[in-house]
Parts: sequence; structure tokens; C-alpha cells
Amino acid sequence: MYESFYGLKENPFNVTPNPDYLYLGESHREALAQLLYGVREKKGFIVITGEVGTGKTTLLHYLLEKLDGNNHTRTAFLFNPKLTVNDFIQYILKDLGVRVQGQTKGEYLHHLHRYLLNAYKRDERVVLIVDEAQGLKPELLEEIRLLSNLETSRSKLLQIVLVGQPELDKTLSQPEFRQLRQRINLRFQLSPLSFKETREYIEKRLRIAGATEPIFTEKAIKEIYRKSGGIPRLINIICDNALLNGFALDQKVVDEKSVREVSADLQLKAKPKSIGKWILFSLSLIGGVIGFLYLYTMGYFQFLYQEAYRGLQFIKMFILLLTS
Ligand SMILES: Nc1ncnc2c1ncn2[C@@H]1O[C@H](COP(=O)(O)OP(=O)(O)OP(=O)(O)O)[C@@H](O)[C@H]1O
Ligand SMILES: [Mg+2]
Repeated sequence: MYESFYGLKENPFNVTPNPDYLYLGESHREALAQLLYGVREKKGFIVITGEVGTGKTTLLHYLLEKLDGNNHTRTAFLFNPKLTVNDFIQYILKDLGVRVQGQTKGEYLHHLHRYLLNAYKRDERVVLIVDEAQGLKPELLEEIRLLSNLETSRSKLLQIVLVGQPELDKTLSQPEFRQLRQRINLRFQLSPLSFKETREYIEKRLRIAGATEPIFTEKAIKEIYRKSGGIPRLINIICDNALLNGFALDQKVVDEKSVREVSADLQLKAKPKSIGKWILFSLSLIGGVIGFLYLYTMGYFQFLYQEAYRGLQFIKMFILLLTS
């Protein structure tokens, strides 16, 4: 809608996944490195968690692209884990390209085991990736644990990657998942972008969409960071709305006021990141004042003063003796 107004060839802040717009912040790069290492080294179980909109699914698409370009890796990608156990195993088989015969769970499992053994003989790794894993029902989690038992005497047959929102960590920390928890060999928590990364992220998107001049002022970017907390999905939404607002007001440069306005319309508040620091500072201040008052009422400062005075007298006498 506003693209030509800003001299862009397309919308830079579309929330649809487009690999051209991929930006890997430090945390994204680390998560990717762990995932690639875990798969390559057949680490078995890998868990990645991150807040809503931090880029988990985007990262997984990128991982899939990388893995699918590798002849020695086969992947099954489950993006909606709300399935029954039977559907789940059937889905994995289909995604791996195995034609399924039979209807019972035992038959499906038999097919899967055979497939995994053959893949192992061909020196192929098989990876099951589950996105939105915070939505896995306990019985599916248990099934996944059992799948992780499929192994030869030398190696795991199936690498499993669970990716989800922080509730996944909570679920896994419950006593009933103790066994599964013990099997997790790599764990990583994806963080939001830093301020510097937020700026690079916005600049990259604008550049790819064809911008030749900066559109957001530095203060506007700071405000976007404050309101989004560095979460890519929120950055996109704020930027998109701010561009639309600028277009409506015939302003080619977006300033912090505009960002504030659209964030208020979107009901986004600045992330209370610094609140923790303020609480700590206030508590230290109160503690300091109370401590001071306590020592004062106990006569500690008077005692110190007397001691210091006595010390000075002593030094004075010493100097007098030396000079007389
Ligand atoms: N690394 C990235 N590079 C470019 N764009 C990104 C990146 N990460 C996220 N985005 C943008 O933010 C949007 C939301 O990201 P994504 O869907 O991957 O988040 P998520 O963590 O999977 O969210 P949810 O917890 O809701 O599943 C994406 O559609 C994309 O536009
Ligand atoms: Mg997602």
C-alpha cells in the first residue's frame, strides 16, 4: 500500500516467512550452531525454547533448508503436534516419504524402525523436528521418548529436535517427564534481539525491499526496540504500522513520535526490562539508609569520630616530639 511512497519494491515487514529477509542475531546463530552440531554428532535429543515471536519457526525453516541440501540427512517436520499417537507416527512416516501399509501402531512402528535401520546402513541421519512442542500432549511426549530409544549398539537412529515456547521447559521439568529430561543432550534458549541487532534487522529488511535512504530516525529505532523488546514479530508489526502512519500523514521519515503513537494503538507498552534494575537500586538505597541510621543510633559514628580524633592527637604529639 505504502511501498511506492517510500520508494520500496515490496513490503519489508511482512510477517510471512521469506528467506531473503532472514537476519541471524547472535542468539539465532548460536541456536543454529547447536542444532547443526547436535544433528551432525547424533546427539539424540535437542530442545530449543524461546518467547513468542522470537523467530523459532523461522530458524527451523532455515535449518531444514540447510539439512535438506545435505544428502546424508532426512527430515520429518511436524509443525502441528496436536495429533493422536497413531496419526503422529503415520505423519512421520509420510513426511519421510515411506509408503504406509497397515493400520495398527505396532505396524507403523515396525515400518519406522525398518526405515531407520536402512537409513543407518546408508549412513544417513534421520531428524524429527517438532515445532510448537509446548502443545504436545503428555502421551505424545512419552511416545517421543520411546522413539528416542530406537538405537543400534553404536548410535541413535533418530535425532529429535523439540522447539517451543517457554511453557515447554515448564512441562519438561515436571516429575513425570524425568526420564525424557535425562535424554536431552542439548538445550538452548533463544533470546530476543539486542538494540544493535534490532537496528540491523530493520535496516536489512528495508534494504532488501529496495530502500536507498534511511526511513526510521535513530530515536524511532530506539523506541521500536523499547516497545518490541527486540522480538522480531513485534518489530515487524510496529514498523509496518509506523510506515502506514507516515504514508497517511505524508511523512517520508518516521520519527519516535510516530512509533509511540502506533505502539499505543497496538497497545504495546515498553518492555519493563529496566524495572528489575530499578527495584534492585531502590532496595540497595533503602538498605543503605536503614544501615546508616542503625549505626548512627548505636553511636558507631561517634565512636569512629573519637577514635579518629585520638589518632590525630597521637600523630600531632609524635610530630612535636620529633621536631622539639
Ligand atoms: N531471524 C529472523 N530473520 C528475519 N525475520 C524474522 C526472524 N525471526 C523472526 N522473524 C520474523 O518474525 C516473524 C515471527 O517469527 P516466528 O514465527 O519464527 O516466531 P516464533 O518464535 O516461531 O513464534 P511463535 O512462538 O508464535 O511460534 C516471522 O514471520 C518473521 O517475519
Ligand atoms: Mg513458531
